[in-house]
Amino acid sequence: MKKEIRKRVAAGVLSAVMLCAAVPVTTAFTAGTATSVVSAAEDDGTTQIYGTGFEDGDVSAFTGRGGVETITATTEQAYSGSYSMCVKDRAKNWNGPQFLLDDKCEAGVQYTVSAVAKTEWYNSIKLSMEYTDASGERHYSNLQAQTSNGDWATFSGIKFSFSEDVSKVYLYFECNDTATMYIDDFEVRTAPVYQIQKDIPSLKDVYANDFKIGTAVTTEELAPQSTKDLIAKHFNSITLGNELKPESILDKSATQASGSETEPVINLASARTILNYCRDNNIPVRGHVLVWHSQTPDWFFKEGFQDSGDWVSKDIMLQRMENYIKNVFAALEEEYPTVDFYAWDVVNEAWLDNGSPRTGGGQSENANYSGWVKVFGDNSFIEPAFEYARKYAPKNTKLYYNDFNEYMPQKTDAICKMALELKEKGLIDGIGMQSHLDVGFPTVSAYKKALAKFAETGLDIQVTELDITTSDTSEAGFEKQAEMYKGIMDACVEYADSISAVVFWGTTDDKSWRAAKSPLLFNEDYTAKPAFYSIVEGKEPVVTTTSTSATTSETTTETTTVTTGTTPGDDVIRGDVNHDGMLNGFDLALMRQYLLNASADDRNLILDSSVDMNADNEFNIQNQIPIICGCVQQILPHQRQVKAVQHTVVV
Ligand code: GLA
Repeated sequence: MKKEIRKRVAAGVLSAVMLCAAVPVTTAFTAGTATSVVSAAEDDGTTQIYGTGFEDGDVSAFTGRGGVETITATTEQAYSGSYSMCVKDRAKNWNGPQFLLDDKCEAGVQYTVSAVAKTEWYNSIKLSMEYTDASGERHYSNLQAQTSNGDWATFSGIKFSFSEDVSKVYLYFECNDTATMYIDDFEVRTAPVYQIQKDIPSLKDVYANDFKIGTAVTTEELAPQSTKDLIAKHFNSITLGNELKPESILDKSATQASGSETEPVINLASARTILNYCRDNNIPVRGHVLVWHSQTPDWFFKEGFQDSGDWVSKDIMLQRMENYIKNVFAALEEEYPTVDFYAWDVVNEAWLDNGSPRTGGGQSENANYSGWVKVFGDNSFIEPAFEYARKYAPKNTKLYYNDFNEYMPQKTDAICKMALELKEKGLIDGIGMQSHLDVGFPTVSAYKKALAKFAETGLDIQVTELDITTSDTSEAGFEKQAEMYKGIMDACVEYADSISAVVFWGTTDDKSWRAAKSPLLFNEDYTAKPAFYSIVEGKEPVVTTTSTSATTSETTTETTTVTTGTTPGDDVIRGDVNHDGMLNGFDLALMRQYLLNASADDRNLILDSSVDMNADNEFNIQNQIPIICGCVQQILPHQRQVKAVQHTVVV
């Protein structure tokens, strides 16, 4: 998750290192390698898009970012063959060679980049990416940093992708000072394509009777088809990893151009790829996040919306907050009227572990400082944030306060106190427990204590960002991780009456913001880890397969749902309501129980071929008659393998 790399630098760099170690790289540059553009697919299905060892002296694919650099092919240094690319006359740290991707790579496809680089003396060389968004703003993200001590540093198989709404996408190298830089064996390939495991239980089906099972995903992570397939199979809730955060949707130039002091302009461009996916696949969304100290630009709190402006007054900031929240909900409603934003994090991370507010100040001073506290003096910005969210959010959207280390006792208390006050005023619906855990910390019992305290507030709980790191990545280490996952998930099931969603913070380990400590359920190749098996074992999946055809904001969605109480497989016997393979009085009793106790809607929800004896797609009294007859006559073979399909029209 790119921007998170910026937020927690150490972890981010580690994750990139880990990531490149795991990617199968097939190309070996040997002496004499010449420039080549787009070669045939390798055994692993990857294709070279561009590769050069600079042996033919051609450096024309690279331009200087500063416009002052001298870029040549040289024999002074070479990692392989006789040539490398030399970049000298760099006037600033950020000057260096850039490689345009737009004309060579496709949006939405995942690629890898590999190269070796060195500088004259000790240096940190960064391989980064730049793109310009739809509003013309340039964005930069570091893909990986490597130390060169005058020797060649290897950048190997680093993944990247970009979305359709961006342009001028570059890969580039820079380093800590103006030293001369050498690059060799530069290569861009399509990333390896993996298939997901289709024969393992679906997480959302396994927990269908407990809570929603969600994941977080960034635009880049969603690029491979395998990620899309994995999400569709296992998750019924999506959180956008970065794309709905203030820094992603605040349109700086449009806001400044508006001339207003109180009207932030919203642009959903960066969120569209994921929101389109959610809309087209009918996956509910957890909105994340409206009011947060981090990933919110300092200029949002400054006069004239200028980086250099003074901090605005509390009164102006209240108006900005109200308009921001109003405009976010309005933009989503306008562009994504059919997407179910069932939950929103209104405020994130306002309490420190000792239960006090953050220090006031800008992100440019310290990533832990809060612009909100700077303007309001304390945490009094929380209540208006919830008031505005309540005022402008759709009626079915539940509102949450979300935080990490939520099991630290003083923090738990501070959150509960605040939540109860907000609850009293009808402003909050739930508490989000981020749950970025580590094997053994906190203990499952400490975590359960926090769950119990939050449950006592009578508010809903959502586990919003679950991941469990492990430093031991041996088989035994992953087994321990699996145990911890099981402990936490069992605790959640114990509190299922108070928990409406458990959301994992990412899909495959390599893409996690804590990738170096492999915290998720799936490996880089999309296979399930012991942690996955530990949380599905012994739990019977409730099959709820939903496939959706053609969803657009204006059109009608047709959802085909097959729902059964247990896993009957394909050959359900009509009338075998308890799916025990026999047709008898127990089935009749169960059917009567359903008929008496369930509402008409609920009845149709449990409709499957076993109860829909007369195949009229309705669960009603008539179904009893064929059962009674069936009990007597026994089931005819041709009555097997018939599935009842419920067609629901969702507008
Ligand atoms: C916090 C935030 C998330 C994400 C993670 C990882 O938990 O709530 O949005 O940024 O940190 O960096």
